[in-house]
Amino acid sequence: MCGIVGYAGPSEASGRPLDVALDGLRRLEYRGYDSAGVALVTPGQGGVASAKKSGKLANLVEEIAAHPLPDATASIGHTRWATHGGPSDANAHPHLADDGRLAVIHNGIVENFATLRAELAADGATFLSETDTEVTAQLLAREYRAAGDLTAAMAATARRLTGTFTLLAVHADAPGTVVGARHDSPLVVGIGEGENFLGSDVAAFVAHTSEALELAQDQVVTITATSVDVTDFDGTPAEGKRFTVTWDAAAAEKGGFGSFMDKEIHDQPQAVADTLLGRSDAQGRLVLDEVRIEESVLRAVDKIIVVACGTAAYAGHVAKYAIEHWCRVPVEVELAHEFRYRDPIVDERTLVVAISQSGETMDTLMAVRHAREQGAKVLSIVNTHGSSIPRESDAVLYTHAGPEIAVASTKAFLSQITAAYLLGLYLAQLRGNKFPDEVGVLLDELRDMPRKVRTVIERGEYVRATARSMAESDKVLFLGRHVGYPVAMEGALKLKELAYIHAEGFAAGELKHGPIALIDSGQPVFVVVPSPHGRDQLHSKVVSNIQEIRARGARTLVIAEDGDDEVRAYADEIFWVPRAPSLMQPLLAVVPLQIFAMALAGAKGLDVDQPRNLAKSVTVE
Ligand code: AGP
Repeated sequence: MCGIVGYAGPSEASGRPLDVALDGLRRLEYRGYDSAGVALVTPGQGGVASAKKSGKLANLVEEIAAHPLPDATASIGHTRWATHGGPSDANAHPHLADDGRLAVIHNGIVENFATLRAELAADGATFLSETDTEVTAQLLAREYRAAGDLTAAMAATARRLTGTFTLLAVHADAPGTVVGARHDSPLVVGIGEGENFLGSDVAAFVAHTSEALELAQDQVVTITATSVDVTDFDGTPAEGKRFTVTWDAAAAEKGGFGSFMDKEIHDQPQAVADTLLGRSDAQGRLVLDEVRIEESVLRAVDKIIVVACGTAAYAGHVAKYAIEHWCRVPVEVELAHEFRYRDPIVDERTLVVAISQSGETMDTLMAVRHAREQGAKVLSIVNTHGSSIPRESDAVLYTHAGPEIAVASTKAFLSQITAAYLLGLYLAQLRGNKFPDEVGVLLDELRDMPRKVRTVIERGEYVRATARSMAESDKVLFLGRHVGYPVAMEGALKLKELAYIHAEGFAAGELKHGPIALIDSGQPVFVVVPSPHGRDQLHSKVVSNIQEIRARGARTLVIAEDGDDEVRAYADEIFWVPRAPSLMQPLLAVVPLQIFAMALAGAKGLDVDQPRNLAKSVTVE
């Protein structure tokens, strides 16, 4: 939530600080789009200049075009997902203090803001907004007047705040400097040549440098054009952790597609292939060097709990079927925000697997902390390097999906399933549930999936045409069984968040226990049909479910495997996917559902990359 960018450049004032800030905001806008703003340090021009506007970044760009800002030596920029105070111009960041000589931007929630506001008001401070951020700006100004040093003032301010925050500040007295602080909210440093950067994530600066520095919790960072200094909140010098960003700026562009979501759907074969890459040895044996948890501990694990939210949780649900089947160890899947509040039974023999694209989801991060406090080992499956969840886990398995910019998750889902399957096979190999050659066969099946995913994408036009014809739908249901059940829930989530249509995913077998009452004439129902070649007669059971709803007037939209002639008679529309082993089917079956939601939202004239009320990375609880 909220995108933050900072830039410190040469002492000669120029237009670059503004350009870097606006470009960074464009790349971070997926983190929130209720308002946008920048502040520039403009030596010789009055100290600090700023502009801010409610609504999307385009409004700010228009404002700056109408009222140009002076050349500068440093900048900060902010794109907001509103928490305290509605999305108005007044509540937009930056917030100014010290007679307009200090500007502050913030991501997170300051929980003690009311107390601090009262204290500062008693001290004579006046406030122009309803935000907690303005309180931090006034507090920082007071600390700065006392300390005469922006870094020391930032540390003193951070020590007074409770809640979560990343703060960036510039002051007219420090023309080439940006100071930041972080507590339970993301901030990474980009190391350039003769210039340095700060960002909520590397997307903010990857167009300028791929060298980065990861900050730990509770650190203050001060950047100038030529220096990066890190301290703890008590002022003790500290070190960040250097890393190199492995994707380039082009990966975070639309690449000729109409939307990031469309591009990211098309990225999916590569995302799966890249997540598999380099994870086997010359003999084809699965090797996961990143799993730095002692083998004896992994052998002794008697329960796995997956913690995640939203799409990542559905990926966890899919993985549960595979890991239990391959490893014969119970797997629970828990929404991260429910996990720690229900007194879960967790001990040293529990392996907690945290799944997160952003690596910053606060609910998931808190679940990770809780699990470790209870003695569990935590392995995270994360896409974003330099983020908080991997840093706080015992081990991390990175998905290699590249940047996911569209708010609705697509390629993250496929790469999370792939990584979780790798973990399942690794555990099966380690614990002796599968012989290496059996693991090899399953790995080969996985390696064949990118080709099949590409085939499903190539068949997308029929899905898009169907979606366009259904733009007036107001309720859509999704059914699935076994691994098709989480796919149904993910299909419903996509439709809700993109097209603002009421959609629900059900286990097909549950239908007759209540939800079938929802079916009336013409009700669209997607059904994910299992492979007719799979086990346990699941296919015929789902075909029966289709007949039951059709008999009550449902319009059936069926995801079925190539050659499944039996289902043809009961489907109003069929979206064919290539034949694949049952456990691999989610990687294919979800793709038409993603395309459908995107196309239907497009037909309604909605912004598929930035749906209303949402933000990509949910960094508040
Ligand atoms: C899915 O389309 C959503 N954007 C959302 O459910 C997301 O998957 C969830 O917030 C978890 O995010 P994470 O993977 O970054 O932790």
